[in-house]
Parts: sequence; C-alpha cells; structure tokens
Amino acid sequence: MNNQGQIGLYIHWPFCLAKCPYCDFNSHVAEKVDQRRWAGAYERALEHYAALTRGRTLASIFFGGGTPSLMDPETVGRVIEKARALWPQVNDLEVSLEANPTSIEAEKFAAFRVAGVNRVSVGVQALNDEDLKFLGRQHSAAEALKAIEIARENFERFSFDLMYARPGQALEDWRVELEQAAALAGGHLSLYQLTIERNTPFYFDHAQGLFDLPDEDQASAFYALTQDVLDEAGLPAYEVSNHAAAGHESRHNLMYWHYGDYIGIGPGAHGRLILEDGRKVATREHAVPDMWLSRVDERGIGAHPFETLSSEDRFMEALMMGLRLREGVRFDHLSAQGGCDWRRYIDEGHLQIAIDEGWIIMDKGAMRLSREGTLRLNALIPYILKLKADSRAHSSVQQAAG
Ligand SMILES: C[S@@+](CC[C@H](N)C(=O)[O-])C[C@H]1O[C@@H](n2cnc3c(N)ncnc32)[C@H](O)[C@@H]1O
Ligand code: SF4
Repeated sequence: MNNQGQIGLYIHWPFCLAKCPYCDFNSHVAEKVDQRRWAGAYERALEHYAALTRGRTLASIFFGGGTPSLMDPETVGRVIEKARALWPQVNDLEVSLEANPTSIEAEKFAAFRVAGVNRVSVGVQALNDEDLKFLGRQHSAAEALKAIEIARENFERFSFDLMYARPGQALEDWRVELEQAAALAGGHLSLYQLTIERNTPFYFDHAQGLFDLPDEDQASAFYALTQDVLDEAGLPAYEVSNHAAAGHESRHNLMYWHYGDYIGIGPGAHGRLILEDGRKVATREHAVPDMWLSRVDERGIGAHPFETLSSEDRFMEALMMGLRLREGVRFDHLSAQGGCDWRRYIDEGHLQIAIDEGWIIMDKGAMRLSREGTLRLNALIPYILKLKADSRAHSSVQQAAG
C-alpha cells in the first residue's frame, strides 16, 4: 500500500467529565478548560507540522481522547479550518470525532457537523444501565439510544463502541446485546474485550478479588460469538476489534493499520512521519496537558525529540499493525518497510508451523490471521519474528479506536 503522499491527522483532547475505572488513556478531569487557549495551541502546532509535511495530502482528521465531544464546536471548527488551510485535501476528507452519549454532548452533534465533522464514534460501552453503572459511565442506556439516533440524523457515517466480556456477563446476554447493537448500527461498530489495565481502579479491585473476569476459554467463546453474530448481520470484522459494512471502514484507522503516515497533536498523541530527508520518525507529544500547552507556547510544538525508526523498527511495526487487519499484511509491503527481503526478519520455520497449526493463512502475496490466530496475536508476532518485538506499536493501536 503506497499512501506515502497522504497523511492523517490525530488531535487528542485530554479531558473527561469523570475518569472511568477501567481507562488508562491520557485523560484528565479538569474544573475549567480555556478552550480558546487550546484552539490557539492546536493551530500553532498544526502550522509547525505543516512545515514538516509540505506537499502531502490530508486524507483524514480524527478527534480522539479523552472526550472530544466536550470540545466547543468552535474549537473543533478552528482546528478543521486551520488544517484545511494548511494542506491540500482529498475530496472525501474524513473528519471523525469520538463522542460520549450524555444528553448534553449528543445535543452538540448538529453543531459539530456544521463545524466540519462528518463522522462520529459514540462511546456507548453497554446497552443496559446496570453494566453502565459498573463501568462508571456518566450516561444511561436511554441516553445511549438517543445519542445513536441523533448520530444517525446528523451523519451518514457513524460508529459506536461496546465493551464485552464484562465481569459476570453471560454469553447469552451478550448475544442479545450484540443483535440489538447490529440493528442500531450505522455501518460500523467497535467491539473491545474489556482489559484490565495496570494502575486503574479496576486493576486494584480485580487484584482484591472484588470481581472475576472470564477465563481464556470463556473469552474465546465471547470472541467467536461476536464474529458469528456480526458476520451474520453483514458487519464483519475488518480489524481485530472493528466491524463494518463495505465502505464504512474508518479510513483514519486504516491508515494506522496500513502503516501510513499520520501527525499526532495534543497531549500524549503519537505520530509516524516520513520527513523530507526520507527518515521515518516516531513522534510523541508531552502527556501532561499544561506542559504540552507551555511547550507549544515556547516552541510551537509540544513533542519530545523525534525518534528515527530503523528499518527493523519499521518492519516490526508494519507487521504488528498489518496482522490486525482481516486482509492481512502483504509481504512486499513488509519488504519495502524493512528495506530488504522479508525473509531476513521472519523465521520461516516458525511461520510454517503457524500455517500448519491453522493460525496464519497465506493469501495472494499476504499473510493473515485465522480466528484462532487472532486469539493468539500477541504471542504469534514474537514467535514468527527473528527480531525481538517491542511494544511501541501498542501506542498506535491504543490511539486507534472507533
Ligand atoms: C479512550 S476511549 C475514548 C472515547 C470516549 N471517551 C469514551 O469513553 O467513550 C475509546 C474506546 O476505548 C475503549 N476502551 C477504553 N478502555 C478500555 C479497556 N480497559 N478495555 C477495553 N476497551 C477499552 C472504549 O470502548 C472506548 O470507547
Ligand atoms: S473511557 Fe473515555 S470517558 Fe472514560 S475516562 Fe477514558 S477517555 Fe474518559
């Protein structure tokens, strides 16, 4: 895939109404946020990155968080307008925004559309009040349904997120909820298995035995059911956790998985960019909101020094991202990223075993994971690599939601 001429733009809004007990994203609860100051800082940072990416075409903008639906529509509009002024764009520029479904936020959807957003991804998480309460969410199931309705009225393309394999959740209940979700969907759904992240309240509650999680077999059964119900509903997975009808895939997130280039602006955001001198760099912004703002004030950019990616890094990252896709990852793409034949980095003996076990399928110049392989994704990558995989690509996976 050669989308070197195109770039995506990720904007991180780091604030939330409350911190959910399972979440380890860079999100903060602040009493007061000076939106005009933030809009100005995003604009300055955009100018800085535009100077580094001259001649590129903007293909997508993604407002992620945190809770970007807490942004004023004016703030969102200023960012979109500035980006449109700085780069040429594809005709069908995708502009997504992650939204929480409280009534106050859903009421802003129309204003977001006017500001230039053309796709929302709504953080529904569960369709019943008991589970929403357990997950520490600020909205009810009724508000979630209303937000989906408002999303449908305002956007041709929209998505919503659910988390499954919740403590105590029965497989049959998940089937019913999934069928309801498929009926409500606007062409795209993100379905994440609840993971217990270190140092979150859920981590400590779980360690103290306050709740149990499904064991490996149960988690596999949840995953298999999810695939079956959504295949049947015409929303097959195009990535490990993302399902879409044809044409409704998130173009921005596909850019991550195709290992294209994207700018990441805002506290803690990550980026990957090929610079004019041909180096591909990993960018990482300061995570603390005030620090990010003051760095942008001082230098016009809130990033740590860029890290040049070696051809090994590029190979590994392209593999880790590409294997998440249903279409898999092409060998010629891997060779191009690694700057050498792919066999230099892949253990062909182990690859053959993975094929024989039915975990990896060879398909027209690409390798892709079977369902069984997808369940083993994290173990399979180091198994087939001659190199030692690090976890850097995890950050991009985390940034890719909805
Ligand atoms: C970081 S959130 C941002 C969106 C928005 N603030 C929200 O909460 O809906 C993006 C998505 O990541 C998923 N997510 C966050 N933490 C998770 C966890 N520990 N396990 C599984 N999914 C998680 C949720 O489904 C959420 O919608
Ligand atoms: S899940 Fe969403 S709303 Fe909850 S703390 Fe994380 S980013 Fe904020």
